[in-house]
Amino acid sequence: MEKLLLKDVTYQYKNKYQTVIAVNKVNFTFEKGVFYAIIGKSGCGKTTLLSLIAGLDLPHSGEIFYDGVNVAYMNREQYRREKVTMVYQNYNLFPLLTVLENVMFPLRLTGISTKKAKKKAVDLIQSVGMDEMYYDRFPFMLSGGEQQRIAIIRALATSADVILADEPTGNLDTQNSINIITMLMNLAHEENYCVIVATHDMSIADKADIVIKMEDGKFI
Ligand SMILES: Nc1ncnc2c1ncn2[C@@H]1O[C@H](COP(=O)(O)OP(=O)(O)OP(=O)(O)O)[C@@H](O)[C@H]1O
Ligand SMILES: [Mg+2]
Repeated sequence: MEKLLLKDVTYQYKNKYQTVIAVNKVNFTFEKGVFYAIIGKSGCGKTTLLSLIAGLDLPHSGEIFYDGVNVAYMNREQYRREKVTMVYQNYNLFPLLTVLENVMFPLRLTGISTKKAKKKAVDLIQSVGMDEMYYDRFPFMLSGGEQQRIAIIRALATSADVILADEPTGNLDTQNSINIITMLMNLAHEENYCVIVATHDMSIADKADIVIKMEDGKFI
């Protein structure tokens, strides 16, 4: 992808008693090869915005264009499988699948053979410094930092070129946070991904190429 364009994107949570405008007329263009950080107070709309970019929901008004195509008119399952990928702070991994199976899962969805998927998964796991000792472990047998590394490479196993991460260092100690930030930064600068991170962590924001501040659903 070349550009991900947000045009007047608005989203509100509505119930019987109240309406919360979580994202309010956001306009922005994200590009590949750039590491973005979205910062702002709790409740300002970061997670909602990432969910919209991820195609988990559609804006109530406004549009998101992926390379000029309105996401609302794309096959959204395909969009989520092939264009954008999301890394969550917790519960990233399938608890009943091993490390190897977790990473193979999205690869298998692309239709490649088990053998090829396994080879690619092994390469990815090794790329984050984890060897065969880890392949058959379940997520609960990994440290927080290890789980997060696997969650990120699982996201890379798809063909997506936009990586979204919501508080990716939330539960990690300083050293593990630095490793994750460096990994995300390299994905943008060396592998040409568009990386968008929502965070409270100023050490991430310091590393970002572009820092976007959100307040009351708006980019300011
Ligand atoms: N399911 C929901 N129903 C109603 N309101 C919601 C819902 N989810 C979020 N909100 C509200 O929408 C606003 C934006 O929430 P969002 O989760 O996007 O914020 P955030 O910036 O990610 O916050 P945090 O930093 O705490 O994760 C908040 O006011 C929140 O209370
Ligand atoms: Mg959030």
